Amino acid sequence: MNKFCFVIHPLSFDDIARYEPGAKGKGEPILRKIMEWMPSYAAVHVTGVRTPDGRETEGWFVAAPLLPQQLVEFPREEVYRRVLRAIEIGAELGAHVAGLGAFTAVVGDAGITINERSPIPVTTGNSLTIAAGVQSLFRGAREMGLDAGSSTAVVIGATGSIGSACARLIAPNVARIILVARNETRLRKFHESVSASLTCASEYTTDVAAAVSRAQLVLTATTSTQDVIQPQDLQAGAVVCELSLPHDVSRNVAAQRPDVLVIEGGNMVVPGSPRFERVREPGTEFDLNLPARTALACMSETMILALEGRLEPFTLGRGIELAKVIEIADMAQCCGFELADMRAFDAAITPEKIAATRIAATVRQ
Ligand SMILES: NC(=O)c1ccc[n+]([C@@H]2O[C@H](COP(=O)([O-])OP(=O)(O)OC[C@H]3O[C@@H](n4cnc5c(N)ncnc54)[C@H](OP(=O)(O)O)[C@@H]3O)[C@@H](O)[C@H]2O)c1
Repeated sequence: MNKFCFVIHPLSFDDIARYEPGAKGKGEPILRKIMEWMPSYAAVHVTGVRTPDGRETEGWFVAAPLLPQQLVEFPREEVYRRVLRAIEIGAELGAHVAGLGAFTAVVGDAGITINERSPIPVTTGNSLTIAAGVQSLFRGAREMGLDAGSSTAVVIGATGSIGSACARLIAPNVARIILVARNETRLRKFHESVSASLTCASEYTTDVAAAVSRAQLVLTATTSTQDVIQPQDLQAGAVVCELSLPHDVSRNVAAQRPDVLVIEGGNMVVPGSPRFERVREPGTEFDLNLPARTALACMSETMILALEGRLEPFTLGRGIELAKVIEIADMAQCCGFELADMRAFDAAITPEKIAATRIAATVRQ
């Protein structure tokens, strides 16, 4: 059996308490300090992943316990050292392929250097995140009765590993696409390099609010640690697919915009009877903050590579080939992984919720 490991890290102080229940009630400065010296450790043992044709894998989520801000601000070599130590722990436990979670895939050159120095092949898992995100966006559009073909779409984080590929996949299905990021030079160059192949009208801007206010479809894949999308910026009836981790759609959208459909875009149902068990407390489930049998798409990509025996650095860097996205989506289907039911703001999106959102959108329009 091929095995995998996946590097995880807390996205917020709330997350730290899910990783380590003993951390509850401790002040943020103390937790930040503890994490500065806390070594990587095997946090979760994943078992029971089984394809419909009987192939199995197991693996470990290994924590590199740093917050997103720390992963961005710490000296790059120190971050690489901690992520590589996490992968080494996975390899010592028997993993044959490694995945990089959230900001461990963002730091530096998006996995290329880490893969070069790693004892086992590394993937960021971004190809399946891209496939799942784009599918989720258009599923949301269908649920809202939105005609995607005549709509304007916005991709925030459009120069990134995930956003740039999402933009290229969304473009053929919409009338206009607006690309958004902060670094204008990089954004302009990216737009110049892709505009001829986008097959729809396209433009770019660094003004998130202005772009979002013109869009019916929004996909966000940024590395912002602050909210990027605010309730007042959104059109009535808009569909927002959020891939960013930590989240960058303001929680106020849930309370103030009942006419907008927000979806977490990157969640997959894992085939078999997956269990996520704490390594330090065997028999205790690790709370992934997701529904049962559900994992992030980047985790799923790593599991699929193990199941398929594709022990290779499948996704690395910031110029992801669309052929890879299509290939991993096909492999996911073959292995029995499915897009998870819609969800946002830590709650399921029920058919009743969608019906209420559609009514609220009609009233507001
Ligand atoms: N849901 C999942 O399963 C899953 C899986 C993997 C990754 N992710 C998440 O996806 C996100 C993107 O990852 P990535 O690998 O594509 O990162 P990346 O390659 O570093 O790209 C980040 C993009 O965000 C833009 N950006 C950053 N801050 C911004 C802001 N405040 N406003 C507008 N744009 C901003 C960056 O451009 P500028 O710097 O020019 O602004 C860049 O275009 C991360 O949050 C990551 O944790 C989710």
